[in-house]
Amino acid sequence: MLGNVSLEQATVEDAGQLAEISKRAFHSDIHVMAPSKGADASAREGGGPIGYDSPEFQTRMMRVCRYYKMIYDEQIVGGLIASRRRHGHYELERIFVDPKYHNRGIGTEAMKGVFTLFPDAKIWTLGTPEWNVRTKHFYEKLGFVQIGWTKDEPAWNGRYYQKSMDPHQRYKTMKISELTSGMRGVEVEAKILEISEPRHVRSRTTDEPLRVANAIITDETGTIKLALWNEQIKQVKISDRIRINSGYITSFRGEKQLNAGKYGPLIILL
Ligand SMILES: CC(C)(COP(=O)(O)OP(=O)(O)OC[C@H]1O[C@@H](n2cnc3c(N)ncnc32)[C@H](O)[C@@H]1OP(=O)(O)O)[C@@H](O)C(=O)NCCC(=O)NCCS
Repeated sequence: MLGNVSLEQATVEDAGQLAEISKRAFHSDIHVMAPSKGADASAREGGGPIGYDSPEFQTRMMRVCRYYKMIYDEQIVGGLIASRRRHGHYELERIFVDPKYHNRGIGTEAMKGVFTLFPDAKIWTLGTPEWNVRTKHFYEKLGFVQIGWTKDEPAWNGRYYQKSMDPHQRYKTMKISELTSGMRGVEVEAKILEISEPRHVRSRTTDEPLRVANAIITDETGTIKLALWNEQIKQVKISDRIRINSGYITSFRGEKQLNAGKYGPLIILL
């Protein structure tokens, strides 16, 4: 029990109800500056992030993440989805509270509750749209600090937040010199030194046409080639400091190459 709010693992039987609550919660974004123009005009017309109103999506997230229902007054009033990115690093994938129960401290209690469920967390991270004044206030009050921007959405940038659970201990990402071929879940911070002109190639597995540009990135231990695919190419520029959260290392023509991966966007550090 966390105050009057408890977190319980969500089950498939809850998926329909959680999808309904999520739908109502995200539709309430119209009151907090959801843009009225551009690709996510749907947020104003009643939209939300991928799968937000789908019971099947909730069920899938229950399989691949830690999905909790929030119980208040013996009722389900919201959901919270978390995942473990790397040892010591957890990501808040999503949180939503039924608008009927907004601004009573339930979201805050649920966040404090999830922090206690994962005592091995050194950092928690999350992304939220730049226009969302409500989540900005909510996360910053909980001690999250914006450390970067994401640029993977066509119509808006995302704020990327991090909370250090122990401010005296700096969370360390991997170093470039430690990266070896075949590694997955690679988390590095580095500066972009060069970006090549994009080339047109075809996917080896699906044959679809792709664009790829090679960047050279560096940290204090070395340099590595980073493959930027399609939309990633225009998200970064030379001299940007970036964080990659779930990259993987391949070997191409005998040379190690870092790929940013599709789970977790490129983060342009402040
Ligand atoms: C974000 C969310 C989960 C917060 O839940 P909640 O139970 O209302 O949270 P709390 O009551 O603990 O805190 C809400 C805070 O936001 C503040 N807030 C509400 N509307 C606001 C606005 N328009 N601008 C700024 N702050 C606002 C409240 O005043 C409160 O802060 P306070 O405690 O300093 O007064 C809820 O608003 C929600 O479901 N939003 C839609 C879904 C969403 O955006 N999820 C996050 C992205 S994944």
